Amino acid sequence: MNQIKLHDKVFRMSIPEQEIDRAVQAVADKINADHRDSDSVPLFLSVLNGSFMFAANLIKRITFPCEISFVKLASYHGERSSGNVTELIGISDALVGRDIIVIEDIVDTGNTYESLMATLMRHNPQSVKIAAMLLKPEVYQKTLPIDYVAMQISNDFIVGYGLDYNGLGRNLPNIYKVV
Ligand code: IMP
Ligand code: MG
Repeated sequence: MNQIKLHDKVFRMSIPEQEIDRAVQAVADKINADHRDSDSVPLFLSVLNGSFMFAANLIKRITFPCEISFVKLASYHGERSSGNVTELIGISDALVGRDIIVIEDIVDTGNTYESLMATLMRHNPQSVKIAAMLLKPEVYQKTLPIDYVAMQISNDFIVGYGLDYNGLGRNLPNIYKVV
């Protein structure tokens, strides 16, 4: 499956599963090392839908006691503010005083993460970090640090490994780039 068609677009294999696995292991190693001298029990927050496959792959490589929860982001336009406001759906755990590690599929412009961070801060966590499977550094212009990144990619539209094109492609084990 070197080339696939989803809706009206053709995609070509870009990152094979084995390479993704190696990058995910490297991120897990770094998170495990950073946690070595801590006895906090972090809460991993996987942002659905896109991050489900990365989250499953990452969390089984974490070697310290931790929790994982899954959230969805709903965007709406605030009545007064012109900016995008996000609401968290599915938060059942108290975030107060917790060390949170957000799990994201991809950081592109960073708009999503920026508003997620603002939303999380209203819950008074102890700390918030992010582990992103992919980062498009040419596009990302925000100042928030992206603490853990498995792979950096060029500014191309991609699918697979959780990421979709209009609903399709999330099931693909490799990452594909639009032709
Ligand atoms: P941001 O807010 O621009 O950082 O975009 C983040 C969200 O846009 C991600 O969580 C994805 O759902 C989606 N996204 C960004 N780039 C891609 C891509 O290349 N393929 C599929 N989805 C993408
Ligand atoms: Mg997403």
